[in-house]
Amino acid sequence: MKPIVCLLLLCAASAALAARPASHAPATANDESPWFCHDLDCPKFTVVKNITDDVQLRRYAAGKWASTVVTGVKYDKAVATGFWRLFKYISGNNEPQQKVEMTAPVTVRVIPSQGPFCEDNFTISFFVPFEFQSSPPQPSDEAVYIEDRPALEVFVSSFGGWATGSSYLSQAADLTEMLEDAGHDIITDHFYTAGYDSPFRLLNRHNEVWILAGKPSQQQQAGKDGAAAVAAA
Ligand SMILES: *[C@@H]1O[C@H](CO)[C@@H](O)[C@H](O)[C@H]1NC(C)=O
Ligand SMILES: *[C@@H]1O[C@H](CO)[C@@H](O)[C@H](O)[C@H]1NC(C)=O
Repeated sequence: MKPIVCLLLLCAASAALAARPASHAPATANDESPWFCHDLDCPKFTVVKNITDDVQLRRYAAGKWASTVVTGVKYDKAVATGFWRLFKYISGNNEPQQKVEMTAPVTVRVIPSQGPFCEDNFTISFFVPFEFQSSPPQPSDEAVYIEDRPALEVFVSSFGGWATGSSYLSQAADLTEMLEDAGHDIITDHFYTAGYDSPFRLLNRHNEVWILAGKPSQQQQAGKDGAAAVAAA
């Protein structure tokens, strides 16, 4: 059984959530920041291909992220724990006690458990603002680290509204199925969620799931490094 499917069945079966109508304007941006980043720094990407109205293949530039790993709890709890650690980091819990601007999106790398206990592995990350990309403040909390994320090629499915663990999971399962049916090479042992909005934004909310493009042979490596480097095309 595919890990994502396993995660869905075992962990999210009870969390029923009606899927929202997903139509949501895609990113047009290449150089300029897309609308859903609003006025926050967000990582640069180019759109390689529009696959449907809501699904794109994007190429992200390499960049630094502040990250923290949370395991052994469900998605929403893991994200709350990780978010709080990272929020303290940007509020000055770092060596120079530097305040760091909030960015978008907050990504969560989900490595679904292969075993029976759903001990999923979540890495919650904030993008480091452009002004600190070359020398991010060193985290004081040893659970927080600076991740050098390589360039990534990802299939992105966008949706609006209020995303929860179960809505992200069903989006990831739908996207996986759609891409596999269309014969795309994808990495299925982990995926990312990307949330762009604080709870205070009531309208025009934007959420994404990212599935890495790549050959299944990159799977092991991807899981270990947390990200698959895109071979220079
Ligand atoms: C993708 O769609 C957007 C919006 O319709 C368009 O502006 C952009 O040029 C398209 N990109 C590609 C690579 O086809
Ligand atoms: C979670 O994933 C990270 C990154 O892939 C890895 O370093 C860590 O050992 C994993 N932790 C657990 C408990 O599986």
